Amino acid sequence: MYVQTASAPDRKPVTVPGLRAMKAAGQRIVMLTAYDASFAWQLDNAGVDVALVGDSLGMVVQGHASTLPVTLEHMVYHTAAVARGLRSTLLVADLPFMSDRDVPHALEAGARLVGEAGAAMVKIEGAAPHVLDAIEALAARAIPVCGHLGLTPQSVHKFGGFRIQGREQEAAERVLAEARAVAAAGADLLVLEGMPVALAERITQAVAIPTVGIGAGPHCDGQVLVLHDLLGVTPGKRPKFSKDFLQGRDSVAAAITAFAEAVRGGQFPGPEHSFL
Ligand code: KIV
Repeated sequence: MYVQTASAPDRKPVTVPGLRAMKAAGQRIVMLTAYDASFAWQLDNAGVDVALVGDSLGMVVQGHASTLPVTLEHMVYHTAAVARGLRSTLLVADLPFMSDRDVPHALEAGARLVGEAGAAMVKIEGAAPHVLDAIEALAARAIPVCGHLGLTPQSVHKFGGFRIQGREQEAAERVLAEARAVAAAGADLLVLEGMPVALAERITQAVAIPTVGIGAGPHCDGQVLVLHDLLGVTPGKRPKFSKDFLQGRDSVAAAITAFAEAVRGGQFPGPEHSFL
């Protein structure tokens, strides 16, 4: 057992308005997933801006084939654990599958993740009418929202697998319109996953809120990876858009720091991690 006595770098807490200021200043946002207090502490200590308790925990922690079995109880449990490991990194938690099915459920989930577990923001997938209603309702109650568009993993069965979205012109226009709608509904941040570089660039220019990409090319306002992909411990084949930052380094801390530096310096993602 280790006691967390080492002090994190002296850093002002990252805030929701601070993320917008980073976009305005052209400062790239560094985001990583975390699911427990120890890794959260590693993120915070490395100066990662945003920690995401993603429902990807269903795959990389629980061993499921998708994120769909993750429940609100699981999310509250892991979010509370991550919150205990953070000092200045902003904490975002996913609304799990169907917890956004209507406004009352979305509000209940948001209240638990923020009020009980300690998140500063909740993430919600898609731009269906009930999702836009939920974003508006959460934002009206001062619960900041991160949207999530493109390859939204909770729609895996609709997509017929984890497939890149927005490749055809019509689909690209649809995703762009969704991004505008999510921003207009009151979201403060927007994850863009699994889409062509050019589409993510158009969205990033079209919306005032910051975008954070994963498999969406280098032109987003920030980048996010699943921690297990970054550490090369995800079972099976590494997704094209990710990179094992532990390879050639001797610690988790060095791998996370290298990711943060590569994002801030514009070296990650490269063309080999992106889709045209
Ligand atoms: O659940 C998750 O980890 C995510 C990221 C891939 C953005 O949504």
